[in-house]
Amino acid sequence: MTQLPMQDPSYLDQSDAVRERLDRLKARDVILRVDRLTKRFQAGKNEITALDEISFETHRREFLCIIGPSGCGKSTLIRILAGLETLSDGQVLLDNRPVNGPGRERGMVFQGYTLFPWLTVRKNVMFGLRMNNVSRFDAQKQANEWLNLIGLEQFADCYPHQLSGGMKQRVAIARALVNHPRILLMDEPFSALDAQTRAKMQAYLLEIWKKIDITVIFITHDLDEAIFLADRILVLSAHPGRLQELIEVPMERPRKPEHFLSPEFAATKARLEALIHPPTEDTEEESYPSVPLLTDVRDSVE
Ligand SMILES: Nc1ncnc2c1ncn2[C@@H]1O[C@H](COP(=O)(O)OP(=O)(O)O)[C@@H](O)[C@H]1O
Ligand SMILES: [Mg+2]
Repeated sequence: MTQLPMQDPSYLDQSDAVRERLDRLKARDVILRVDRLTKRFQAGKNEITALDEISFETHRREFLCIIGPSGCGKSTLIRILAGLETLSDGQVLLDNRPVNGPGRERGMVFQGYTLFPWLTVRKNVMFGLRMNNVSRFDAQKQANEWLNLIGLEQFADCYPHQLSGGMKQRVAIARALVNHPRILLMDEPFSALDAQTRAKMQAYLLEIWKKIDITVIFITHDLDEAIFLADRILVLSAHPGRLQELIEVPMERPRKPEHFLSPEFAATKARLEALIHPPTEDTEEESYPSVPLLTDVRDSVE
């Protein structure tokens, strides 16, 4: 019997289960279509192209992560999708309709804690509903259902400052989802949390996503987070922000912490590393100057 040499899997290898799942996903309706989106900023006399002809599609109930180096235009992109920023060229279509401003079919969760500090947890969750003229009684009922779902019903009458960071982001998610958006836009929502809380929030977000009809666009600069969460990962390059690759994550669902140790995970991470931190001529020594000897003590401390 001949033994085949052991070979690491490529990030392009997909098990039958993964391929079938992704095929089903790509057969679903397109919720969001971004077509040659370009964004230029005026900086004094200069013009900066922050995003250059970005095109992609997101399907119903897809979990799409966007990663890229700092300054590559991730926040600009999600702000344009949210309608908080105008685009310079191209178009964004949500359910085939152009996005021209904010709308209640898009929920947003940002990195900073964006709850209203002067409102209780329940009133924070009720806020969007009340703005949309839902009666106080119905808004309260729906807010209570969501607080129940996120396990914070006993904190309904607390104020945000009385909650931990993870709890605040759970409320922020509930506040966005209570309005039944078609799409949830998240810009590094867990990056201010400690590692343990962050891991719990990732698992928790996937639990919610599984239970409701929501498409998620999630920005992160954490490669592990992107692989753990996403169906597909959009990789951007910097200066100008361009689409480098759309990676299909070759990992089965439900995702579990032990997946972090799988060969598929390692292969995907290696690909993302290569795209985001390509090897350059620059050596570490160049970016970190050697530390001069500051004392007369010549005894080695090694
Ligand atoms: N309002 C603005 N005016 C001018 N330049 C901006 C503005 N907002 C962002 N930029 C520039 O656009 C680029 C992308 O920024 P941003 O979207 O915040 O990147 P990321 O979120 O990926 O770190 C950066 O070079 C940034 O300086
Ligand atoms: Mg950003």
